[in-house]
Amino acid sequence: MKQPFAHPMMPLPTSDELARQNFIASLKMHMEDHVYPADAVVGRTRVASKFRAQNGRDPKGRVEWRHAMEEDPFVQTWSSMARTIQEMTWDTVGEIVQHQLPELIEKSRIQAPQGSLTLDPELKVPAYNTAIDIHCMPGGYHTDIAEDDVYAGAIFDRGAYYYGLPIRGSSALEYRDSRERLQRAIPGYTLIDYVKQQFPDLKPQRILDLGCTIGGSTVPYAERFPDAEVYGVDVAAPSLRYAHARAEYLGVAVHFRQENAEALSFEDESFDLVVSHGLFHETSAKATPRILKECHRVLRKGCVTMHMDTQFARGLDDYQAYYWDWDTHYNAEPFWGTLHHSDARELLADAGFARKTITEVWPRPQADGCVAYDPVRDAGGELVGTTIFAGQKL
Ligand SMILES: C[S@@+](CC[C@H](N)C(=O)[O-])C[C@H]1O[C@@H](n2cnc3c(N)ncnc32)[C@H](O)[C@@H]1O
Repeated sequence: MKQPFAHPMMPLPTSDELARQNFIASLKMHMEDHVYPADAVVGRTRVASKFRAQNGRDPKGRVEWRHAMEEDPFVQTWSSMARTIQEMTWDTVGEIVQHQLPELIEKSRIQAPQGSLTLDPELKVPAYNTAIDIHCMPGGYHTDIAEDDVYAGAIFDRGAYYYGLPIRGSSALEYRDSRERLQRAIPGYTLIDYVKQQFPDLKPQRILDLGCTIGGSTVPYAERFPDAEVYGVDVAAPSLRYAHARAEYLGVAVHFRQENAEALSFEDESFDLVVSHGLFHETSAKATPRILKECHRVLRKGCVTMHMDTQFARGLDDYQAYYWDWDTHYNAEPFWGTLHHSDARELLADAGFARKTITEVWPRPQADGCVAYDPVRDAGGELVGTTIFAGQKL
């Protein structure tokens, strides 16, 4: 597997650590390809017929499905393995980062940067970030364990690259490699392609990426719109320190700021494009409308907001809605299901975006590395994984 070592912030494993990572990555891939898909077979046959025998009908809704499925030994087994693999993932990444943390911190102190890093020690990180270790990542995105810490950013970069989301490689080439290899929609590039397709006349001068973490989604905007001023905001200081250094080593100018996207410090009508990638499934149901209102406020007239996140459940059948909700209950993603059962079009309309400008598509990576953008279907039960939703400020 190609390694993303082209930027010096990426933590390097020892050979023993790499062997352990390889084992866990292989196990994860094997489970995803050959074991988890059997949940549907077990659910729609064994579990459904047992439920029918007891209740005289099929299970209704994702909650009833979950309770019925949780009694089945196959479901208990795969589910507990999936949770264990997730915890092992972060354990191995944590070990790699810990023994080189002082060097990473040293490397993150950039002299004469092209971009900037503005932290706000007074910022209160919202409880929906701090109350649990999101997706079992120890300390979440925000916990500082040393002075000028970059630990959270380093584990996210190494972990996301290595385990199933190798979409945050260190260069555009690696993003494209992984798109072809994995057939996945990739934050940043996938959204940029959609922006260019939908709004060919939009030439954004100021771009804002909300919930940027380590800038994996932000750097592509600086690469593809070299004349634009690109900002990335996040609440998490150790992720932002890492993001700043990473972007500088990758040779692009990005301005990273520690801000809460619910209440941005930017002036009204000061951006041409406001985007996010994977933000909303990690914010609360109360925060989401506030963030979208901020998107509307900071956009200039005629300009665009676009967001890429997990697939909404509309159109899924009850079994699929249960399956899609797994992370909510077993992977410390408490807002995953909440987002699935909200309506992106209504959220954008409530935030002030004109209904006629609102679009919602499924990005579908093609074998040639391009992405097709299919309108979201309201029926037909298809699990595609990702949705892009967008609106224009008129
Ligand atoms: C899944 S990560 C985003 C990943 C990133 N966009 C990428 O594609 O690599 C979600 C990020 O949102 C941040 N976040 C959550 N709530 C936020 C808020 N209210 N304001 C700003 N950032 C927030 C978290 O700290 C975390 O870094």
